[in-house]
Amino acid sequence: MSLRGIILAGGLGKRLDPLTRITNKHLLPVYCKPMIYYPIQTLVDAGVRDILIVTGGNNAGDFLRLLGNGAEFGLKHINYTYQRGEGGIAEALNLAEHFAQNDKTVVILGDNLIEKSIKKYVEDFIKQGEGAKILLKKVLDPERFGVAEIKGDKIVKIEEKPKRPRSDLAVTGIYMYDPKVFEIIKTLKPSRRGELEITDVNNRYIEWGEMTFDVLDGWWTDCGTFDSLLRANKLVAKKADKADKLCES
Ligand code: DAU
Repeated sequence: MSLRGIILAGGLGKRLDPLTRITNKHLLPVYCKPMIYYPIQTLVDAGVRDILIVTGGNNAGDFLRLLGNGAEFGLKHINYTYQRGEGGIAEALNLAEHFAQNDKTVVILGDNLIEKSIKKYVEDFIKQGEGAKILLKKVLDPERFGVAEIKGDKIVKIEEKPKRPRSDLAVTGIYMYDPKVFEIIKTLKPSRRGELEITDVNNRYIEWGEMTFDVLDGWWTDCGTFDSLLRANKLVAKKADKADKLCES
């Protein structure tokens, strides 16, 4: 079974207004590259070569001008699709159904940056058979994220942005799914914030006993707020200092 990569770069990035009034959030700079470069590289480094980018908003054409067929990443081709509005992460993922066909998928949010490779987790997921896998990370501000409740070595529930988090383990925006994910999305109802929530998808797999997890090695950050965007810039700058190839043009 081959594995397909899906990068979700839709939404309107309102929390970063006015930075996102003119351009798509995922085209903003993070140190020496546009943000979208990092999730693409994460997938390529994990050995994923069939990639779809779900974009949205006013500047979708700029992704094509910037990335073309992905030659900079050693790819022959990149697939693109368009999300109207911001109906949620699960809605954006649903647009990838035709691309996923009957394969397993690795989904990464376009504003999620990491330090190290996810290759080992992806390989474990391929061996896993049915179900899904998520990657968790200990954070200081869990109330900003989906938060995992763990009992023993099992994940029992995920709560989306809880006021009183039951752990400090955030659910990162790196998700691995079997093809059932698209059936699950079709049964979802919009949440209070009017979105189809990826947390509802993940809770379904948990209820079925088909969700595995790992704690991600190395740093992880999103770029959804001014503070986290600044943090991402600093972390990438530090990483580039150690790995001189990262910012070569
Ligand atoms: O970063 C990890 C977190 O991402 C998780 O811990 C949460 O469980 C998950 O809900 C999500 O939380 P956010 O509220 O921070 O997600 P946000 O709305 O900022 O969207 C993150 C990315 O998802 C965004 O950069 C692009 C993509 N997206 C989002 C929406 C709402 C889309 O492609 N389409 C959308 O409609």
